[in-house]
Amino acid sequence: VNHLLGIKYLNKKDISLIFETADHFKEVINRSIKKVPTLRDITIANIFFENSTRTKLSFELAEKRLSADVVNFSAGQSSVKKGETLIDTVNNILSMKVDMVVMRHPNPGAGIFLSQHVNASIVNAGDGAHEHPTQALLDSFSIREKLGDVGGKNVVIVGDILHSRVALSNIFALKLQGANVKVCGPKTLIPKHIESLGVGVETNLRKALEWCDVANMLRVQNERMDISYFPSTREYTQQFGVNKELLNSLDKQIVIMHPGPINRGVEITSDVADSDQSIILHQVENGVAVRMAVLYLLASKIK
Ligand code: CP
Repeated sequence: VNHLLGIKYLNKKDISLIFETADHFKEVINRSIKKVPTLRDITIANIFFENSTRTKLSFELAEKRLSADVVNFSAGQSSVKKGETLIDTVNNILSMKVDMVVMRHPNPGAGIFLSQHVNASIVNAGDGAHEHPTQALLDSFSIREKLGDVGGKNVVIVGDILHSRVALSNIFALKLQGANVKVCGPKTLIPKHIESLGVGVETNLRKALEWCDVANMLRVQNERMDISYFPSTREYTQQFGVNKELLNSLDKQIVIMHPGPINRGVEITSDVADSDQSIILHQVENGVAVRMAVLYLLASKIK
C-alpha cells in the first residue's frame, strides 16, 4: 500500500511527477471542467481530529473533481468522544469498503502509526508539529508557478518554526528541489538543531528579507504554545511582522506567502497580505490541483 506520510519519504523525481500531474489537473480546472472520471471506483474518507478550513475543503474538492466517493469524519461528533481508539475508528471506516484515508491529527507520527496498523493508503493532512506534506507541495508548486523554478531560489520561512509542520515539510521539499533556505524568528521559536537540515538561521527580519526571493510567513501557533516560549504579541509583531513600509524599503520586490490561517496585524499586515506581492490565494487555488495529483498518483497504485 502506498502512502503520503511526509516529504521526508519523497525524492526529487516524486515531486517533479506530482507537479507535472498537478499542471495537467490545473489546466483541466482552468478549462472549467469541474469533474473528471479518474477515481470513479475509489472511496476516500477524510478524517479530521483537528480543525481545518483550507486542507479539508481542498481535499474534498480534489476528491470530488476526480469523481471519488467521499465520506467526511470529524472527531468532535464521533465515537472517539466515547473513547474509541484511532485504529478501531479507522478499521471500522475501512470495513465499509473505503480505499484511502486522508487524516489530520494533533499527534506527530499519527499517520505513520496508522499506516502500520491498517490496510489502506494514508495521506497525512497534518500531524501535530511534524509534517504537512501537501501544504509544502502546494507551496513549492506556487513558487515554481510564480518564479519559474524552485531550484536556486532563496526562501526564508519566518515565524514559529518550532511548532510548525508547514516549516518542516517546506524545508524538506525546498532542499530536495535545490532552493537555499533560511528560517527567521525569535530564538525561542527556532528548534535547536535546525542547521542540521541544511538551513541557515537569521534572527533579524530585515536581513532575512534582503536576502530572500520568497518569504513564507507563518502563524504563531498559540494553541501549541508553552507560554514561556513566547515574546509578547506586540514584541513579536515589532520584530518579526511584515508590513508594507518594511517591504517598500527593500531594494527588490519579494514574493510573500502564507499557509493560512492568517493572524492579520500580527505576522503580516492586511496591506501586505492583500497586495500584488502576495500569492496567498494562489497557494489555496493550487492546493486543489496538487491534491488531485497526489490522490490520483496514490490511487493508480490501488486500482
Ligand atoms: N494551511 C492549512 O493547513 O490550513 P487549515 O488548517 O485551514 O487546513
